[in-house]
Amino acid sequence: MFDFSALPPQLQRSLSASLQKNITTPIIICSQDQIAANLHPMLHHLGFLASDVYFPVKVNHTLEVIACLNQLSTNFEIASLGELSILGKLKIPAQRIIFSNPVKIPNHIRAAYHYGIRNFAFDTETELKKIALYAPHSSVFARLSISNLGAEWALNDKFGIPQTEVVTLMKKAINLNLNPNGIAFHVGWNNKNPDTYSNAIGIVSELFEELNRNDIHLEFLNIGGGFPAHNCDSYALLNAIAHKIKPQLGALQEQYDIRIIAEPGSFLLANAAAMVCRVVDVIQRENKKWIFLDSGICQGFQWVMSHISYSIIYPYAIQKETSFQHYIITGPTCDSHDVFAENVRLPDSIKSGDFMLVYPAGAYISSAQHYNGFDYPETFLV
Ligand SMILES: Cc1ncc(COP(=O)(O)O)c(C=O)c1O
Repeated sequence: MFDFSALPPQLQRSLSASLQKNITTPIIICSQDQIAANLHPMLHHLGFLASDVYFPVKVNHTLEVIACLNQLSTNFEIASLGELSILGKLKIPAQRIIFSNPVKIPNHIRAAYHYGIRNFAFDTETELKKIALYAPHSSVFARLSISNLGAEWALNDKFGIPQTEVVTLMKKAINLNLNPNGIAFHVGWNNKNPDTYSNAIGIVSELFEELNRNDIHLEFLNIGGGFPAHNCDSYALLNAIAHKIKPQLGALQEQYDIRIIAEPGSFLLANAAAMVCRVVDVIQRENKKWIFLDSGICQGFQWVMSHISYSIIYPYAIQKETSFQHYIITGPTCDSHDVFAENVRLPDSIKSGDFMLVYPAGAYISSAQHYNGFDYPETFLV
């Protein structure tokens, strides 16, 4: 009676198995086979080893998901001490972790150094000074500012060194007894434009030349995340991006003997999970019909308020004669902004107790709680 045909195959199988059982909702069902199936094209199209992939813990910090990626032999990228403590629970060795947040809290640098991490991102001189103080003699990689054209969520306002300042900052790093060893960039979230990736690598090529002239020799280029994964054919788009950039990456590798690494988050996780919830009530108010679910946007889907959209899937086989109507899909809280979507066309037979899926739910949803490893502040009543 279920129909999951709108979802990728491995997730379909995980959902079938789960929904046959008496599961308590709401719950996010995440398919480890789907994660493995997503890693494969990343390795295949970009010619990576699993160890060239540094999974950003911010994307999904569920211990079992991290353990699954560990089994698949990926490495990891963190932004905070909170994220490091998750990797620590699984005893992930420090050599497999990079600290990619360009602006770090000082005691997080100290704790990471104590753990054994020696690879830190930077994009300012003050950050270099912090790293020199709390993680002396470490390696540092420059977060380059690049265009995020085509991204659904740009990241280049908040972070990044302009191309013209990279060499100067790398020299400052050397003066602080740090070891500049790489360049990183991020094209912004869900970026489907191959030219943006390619132009960024073009800038990196110029930088490698300039650094070489200045006798600074790096070990890697980190092409970040941003690979399209949300509401699109991620595999075809990755193929198109790889087709464009692989020759450029190959040339850089050959000329400068460097590693190419990446930090794909959404690509590996987004389509690997769906939230399974149940209809609490179906209510007509004036001329609008509302479906109340037992979980809403305040339970990890706050991104809806920044105009990111999720599919609402009624996971049952639909008869030919079924009639449809348009619904507003809302959550259980008392807030009026708790709305997944309006004008969602679904069968008019929907009733309390039916399952409903919200998809994709593998990236940035369960980790929206304590996002990026930063806890909510406690309240101190005085
Ligand atoms: C430094 C860094 N790397 C990787 C990612 C993951 O990006 P995505 O989910 O687009 O793959 C992010 C996301 O914000 C990031 O900030």
